[in-house]
Amino acid sequence: MSLVIRPIEHNDAESCGNIGYEAHKAISSAHGYPSEQHSEEFGIGLINSLLDNPNSWGVLAERQGKTLGSIFLHEFPPSPVAVIGPLTVHPAAEGGGIGRTLMEAALTRASKQNHDQIRLVQSPSHIRSFVLYTKCGFTLREPLFLMQGQPLKVSNNTSSANVRLLRSDSDVSVCDELCKSIHGFSREMELRQAKDQGIATMIEQNGVITGYSAGIGILGHAVANSNEDLKVLIANASVILGPGFFVPARNHEIINWLLECGFQIGWPANLMTIGPYQEPLAPFLPSLAY
Ligand SMILES: CC(C)(COP(=O)(O)OP(=O)(O)OC[C@H]1O[C@@H](n2cnc3c(N)ncnc32)[C@H](O)[C@@H]1OP(=O)(O)O)[C@@H](O)C(=O)NCCC(=O)NCCS
Repeated sequence: MSLVIRPIEHNDAESCGNIGYEAHKAISSAHGYPSEQHSEEFGIGLINSLLDNPNSWGVLAERQGKTLGSIFLHEFPPSPVAVIGPLTVHPAAEGGGIGRTLMEAALTRASKQNHDQIRLVQSPSHIRSFVLYTKCGFTLREPLFLMQGQPLKVSNNTSSANVRLLRSDSDVSVCDELCKSIHGFSREMELRQAKDQGIATMIEQNGVITGYSAGIGILGHAVANSNEDLKVLIANASVILGPGFFVPARNHEIINWLLECGFQIGWPANLMTIGPYQEPLAPFLPSLAY
């Protein structure tokens, strides 16, 4: 029976969410990590929220009406980067080329949407997904660790830097300029959304913006001119959103500082990319997306 690839609809959320939960449970229990999808309800809720997002596109794979896996591709206009994930295949259907077929569908969609930069965050303990992504053209760029702990609050911040919430369009613009100078592209939409949620902060020193955070958490990201500025952003976060936040594993100074502050490492991850990639020119925290 041939494999059918078709758009996901809301009444597919249960089957796709269940597969996401089962697939992640299988891989996390094999390696002793907490699962990225801790319950079936979480998996279903995730699919429903992605279906409601106009910048997300998803397809599923089915055979004889039975869902076997799904994939999503996300856009962050005006960012040139498109992001893949989650990709999940039912554990009983692994090894049948379904993952590859879903990846090809997402890459075709990205190309039709004129994205030459595609990114994802991979779970390194899962060799199968690393092989699949490598065969699809992805390069490992940045090993990450998810850091977990309580907000440090300003009491741990000895810096005199002026940290404040983003309040206006002009705050978004100046922070986005810093992003462009460090990453080479704009993340304006994410900055604007974080500003509207009241979780975006910026450091201003003598009228110069030296760092910003679009929320400290798994869906947030940050850039700063120095590790000192990055520490200030982290130390000033009143809340850590989600299970933690990613830090590049090779940023010894930040990882070591967080460990000294009582943080723990939750799980490893890999930032992988296809297409042009500018090595960030200053310290940064990536989001779960990129
Ligand atoms: C990752 C996942 C989507 C892969 O789905 P799949 O249908 O099994 O993938 P495919 O069979 O299309 O591709 C896997 C490839 O890895 C290869 N492979 C697997 N283990 C390998 C190993 N140890 N060394 C070399 N190649 C390996 C397979 O041979 C296959 O390559 P091929 O197509 O050239 O034969 C699925 O395992 C899954 O859902 N895992 C749990 C959730 C998850 O980790 N998602 C990704 C998050 S980053």
